[in-house]
Amino acid sequence: NAHDPESLARLAAGVATRAGELIVRMRDRGVTVAASKSSAIDVVTEADRAAERRIVDELLAARPEDGVLGEEGAGVAGTSGITWGIDPIDGTTNYLYDIPAFAVSIAATVPGDAYADRRRAVAAAVCNPRTGELFEAWEGGGARLGGTRLRFAGRAELGALLVGTGFGYTEERRREQAEAAARLIPHVRDIRRIGSAALDLCNLAAGRLDAYYERGLQPWDYAAGALIATEAGAAIIGRDEATPPGEPYLFAGDAAVVDELRSVVLGG
Ligand code: IPD
Repeated sequence: NAHDPESLARLAAGVATRAGELIVRMRDRGVTVAASKSSAIDVVTEADRAAERRIVDELLAARPEDGVLGEEGAGVAGTSGITWGIDPIDGTTNYLYDIPAFAVSIAATVPGDAYADRRRAVAAAVCNPRTGELFEAWEGGGARLGGTRLRFAGRAELGALLVGTGFGYTEERRREQAEAAARLIPHVRDIRRIGSAALDLCNLAAGRLDAYYERGLQPWDYAAGALIATEAGAAIIGRDEATPPGEPYLFAGDAAVVDELRSVVLGG
């Protein structure tokens, strides 16, 4: 079956692992900033571009009818119904400083309405090439870290939560995000800003965070991580009704606490 989610996940895992090797090899030779995007600190490196090219080439060589949508601009419509969402380096600032928390994130998506881009992930892989950790999931098949099944068991009491979050790159977005974090911090165990949305969601799946939220993620930032988190058993609230399309407000954690987390963060 051409759309068998397990084989799509295996393909994603192999491609993500090889792209991870490439970005680490390039990082070990130094880092070259190629351009900036939404603001001067939202940068694109030569490695982002090289890795995205490599990932697209490998995916389309294996599955020429598929579409691709990449953070660095790759876009092919495809005819199979499967579109690959690609973030060649999620955690670009960590990559720039060589903090070992950046990842290659790849998700196979099909039409659906689960997330803001009206597609839903059916298979995913996230590889942190500095730690060698490989997270994988496919729809109905559970989530795995290095082949071992993950079962989310995050805390459900607000005051006990270790909560991951992230910040965007523009001043206006950061003001809102700082206000949201200020509303939340008095009520929870602590907050972590690890620097990669994909790894935040994988860390949640692995029980290293109890909850996670962020506003303004793009589909390629969270498509893979969100499938890994939900397949591990976490609940995700997709987006706020008031959030413009393409700018979801994601909340993830134990089903018994995500609504409360959401209302504290939104100040409602
Ligand atoms: C960013 C990271 C970060 C999150 C930002 C994303 P990038 O992705 O996932 O953790 O807070 O919102 O843009 O730019 O490193 O691919």
